[in-house]
Formats: sequence, C-alpha cells, structure tokens
Amino acid sequence: MPSRYSHRQMIVHWLTAFCLVAIIALAWVMINAKEDAPFTDSLYDWHGSFGIVVLGLTALRIVWRFIDRAPPLPSNLAPWERALAATTFGLFYVLLLWMPITGYTAAAAAGYSLKFFNLVTIAPLVPRSDKLNSLMNTLHFVYGQWAVYTLIVLHAAGVVFNVVVKRNGIVNRMLPAQVNEAAATGEPARRI
Ligand code: HEM
Repeated sequence: MPSRYSHRQMIVHWLTAFCLVAIIALAWVMINAKEDAPFTDSLYDWHGSFGIVVLGLTALRIVWRFIDRAPPLPSNLAPWERALAATTFGLFYVLLLWMPITGYTAAAAAGYSLKFFNLVTIAPLVPRSDKLNSLMNTLHFVYGQWAVYTLIVLHAAGVVFNVVVKRNGIVNRMLPAQVNEAAATGEPARRI
C-alpha cells in the first residue's frame, strides 16, 4: 500500500481547493453586489460554474476511491485523531455534493439557467417553484455556507496541528515528491 496519495488524487484535491477559494470569493462579492449591476449575473454564473466543476470532481473522487485507494493513516495517530480525520473527510464529501446540488436547484427553481464558463448554457432542470427555491436556498446559503466554513477551518487546523505540533510529515502525503525532497535538502523545488 503506498504511503502517499497518487498524482491523480493530488491533482483532484488541489483543483478542488482552488475551486473552493474561487467559489467563496465569488459568493462574497456576488451577494454584496448591487442586484442591477451589469456584472452581478456573471458572478453568479462563475460561482455556479466552479460549483459544477466541484460536483464533477467530487463524483470522480468517490468513484476513484474504490479503484485508487487513499493511503492508510500512519499507525502512530491516536484513535481520536483517526476518528476526527475520518469524520471531516466524510462530511467534506457530503458537503461537496450537497452545495452544488442545492445551489443549482435553488437557482433553477427561480427560473435561472447557468452559463457554464460562458461555454454552454445549462437550462433549469427543475420546474419553477418558490417553495423549492426557498428550501434549497436555506440548505445552501443558510446552513451549507457555515458548514463549508466549519469544515475548512477544521481541515486547516488539522494541517497546522500536524505540521507545527506533531511534526509527523503527514501533510507531505498530499504534496508531490519533488516538494518533499526540496524541503528535506533545503534546495528550491525548481531551478530556473
Ligand atoms: C462548496 C461551496 C459551494 C458550492 C459548490 C456552490 C455551488 C453553487 C451553485 C452550483 C450555484 C448555482 C449557480 C447558478 O445557477 O447561478 C450556487 C448558487 C448560489 N450560491 Fe453557492 N456554492 C458554494 C458556496 C457558497 C457560499 C459559501 C455562499 C455564500 C456565502 C453561496 C451562495 C450562493 C447563492 C446566494 C446562490 C444563488 C442561489 C439562488 O439563486 O437562489 N454559495 N452555488
């Protein structure tokens, strides 16, 4: 069993992280933008487009987990650390499906199409319904938003705890080998 994640898993992980940064930044700008400003609709479309990418990446990740298994956690982790890691990762998977589905359904139930990166238009796949829009908005915006922040903080706290307090190198499992070697030798990862 390998001790680090495969390149495929790393790419999906870091792409998802990149999309989350973009999604959250766009969300904050779009909900504070004037409704009639000329760029507001585009902000929603970009937010939703990155959201659909996250949905695809997460679905792919779940399927891949059966083929390309995650490396086992190191044996020196305490049972509470294992339980917390498993819970955070599990909830992340649920949330990364929940958020795009509820976000898309809220917008679609309000009659909006989604211009996916301005390449294709995804028509509303659910009938117009104020009730559905309000339910999905609550799940996405009211609860989901805070669940996303909570999990990101928990995940980041786990990384800091392992790097600064435990210094167990567990974080290197999600970094390419060249970065680890460079850190070990003090050499820069890439020379120009
Ligand atoms: C994992 C994080 C998230 C994902 C994957 C995600 C995904 C989506 C998607 C796919 C849409 C539909 C966009 C459209 O069709 O125009 C949407 C809508 C929306 N999102 Fe998010 N989102 C996330 C986080 C957030 C956060 C943190 C906020 C607030 C700060 C937020 C606020 C909204 C709002 C207000 C809408 C519009 C809902 C409506 O039209 O009724 N989202 N989101």
